[in-house]
Amino acid sequence: MSGTQPTSDRIMLLATGYWATGILGAAASHSLFTHLDAGADTTDQLAARAEISERGAQTLLDGLVSLGLVEVHAGRYRNSADAATYLVEGKPTCLSDFAQLKMAHMGALADLPEVVRAGRPLTDAVVEVADNPHWERLVTAIAAQSVPVAAIAADTLRLAEAGEISILDVGGGSGIYSATWLRLNPAARATQLDWRPINAIAGRLVAEEGMAERFTCVNGDFHTTDFGTAAYDVAVFSHIAHQEGPEDNIAIFAKLRGALKPGGTLVISDYVVDDDRSGPPFPLIFGSEMLLKSKQGGTWRRADYQSWLAKAGFDDVTFQPTPSPATLVFAR
Ligand SMILES: C[S@@+](CC[C@H](N)C(=O)[O-])C[C@H]1O[C@@H](n2cnc3c(N)ncnc32)[C@H](O)[C@@H]1O
Repeated sequence: MSGTQPTSDRIMLLATGYWATGILGAAASHSLFTHLDAGADTTDQLAARAEISERGAQTLLDGLVSLGLVEVHAGRYRNSADAATYLVEGKPTCLSDFAQLKMAHMGALADLPEVVRAGRPLTDAVVEVADNPHWERLVTAIAAQSVPVAAIAADTLRLAEAGEISILDVGGGSGIYSATWLRLNPAARATQLDWRPINAIAGRLVAEEGMAERFTCVNGDFHTTDFGTAAYDVAVFSHIAHQEGPEDNIAIFAKLRGALKPGGTLVISDYVVDDDRSGPPFPLIFGSEMLLKSKQGGTWRRADYQSWLAKAGFDDVTFQPTPSPATLVFAR
């Protein structure tokens, strides 16, 4: 009987969940995972390398052991496999900046009771306004999430062997999709549409890889900027459909259909909810972020994408889950 008795464990963990965000964000901001990776493995060594107090280092290490991000054996610490892959600086998949960004966003959650009452953000500082400085910090922090997904999409579409293709990335942010795909296919060319300051970041990052001559940027708002006609073999719309409402998504998908050559493929990457809204967990909970930050955004169901893409002129829609919170949607 006792195994079936309700306990407060889960609720206590959830009510104090901001401790986890804080410990992860603070450890990331002091490069603790990077120092562990480089061989520092005791509290005093880590405190010295990170230039933090020993008391602080011990508190972070205890918290990280509790969270399963660090393991301890006989007083020596090491990264868990997850932390070694996703929290060591310099790795393309490193989520350290993202963890620090989310720590900085914690306070905004205190508005959630009022936001759910109103059904929209309390201020006009929403994500979809022009030239929002929010993006400048977000786009590099979020790029690590797109690294594995861009590689999976390239594999599915066999982009490496596709020859002289042209790619359109709408809201491309740091240029992570263009950079990944141009690297895989030396004959490909990519065009990114985004706000001017964001394109400047992407241009710099793509140029650092020596691919600037195959990368073009168009500055502007994707609601009002022309995407061209039958010009691209592949188009990408990653981590953006969730900030837009149904009508805007249909209109953008229709412009993307028009910009693709006949037979071209639209790749959408986003947090897609099951049709009965029973999962997956990350997309379901991410909706609160869009309620706080966007006028009409949300996490949309597979059925929403299917219906909107059909209205936009796509006949064939397939979904590919990835080992990240994002699902890939391919539309032709
Ligand atoms: C969440 S980021 C995604 C970046 C990138 N696609 C990725 O997956 O890593 C959203 C991007 O869309 C851009 N964006 C948002 N609203 C826009 C608009 N109305 N016009 C042009 N770009 C916009 C932002 O500047 C930002 O680069």
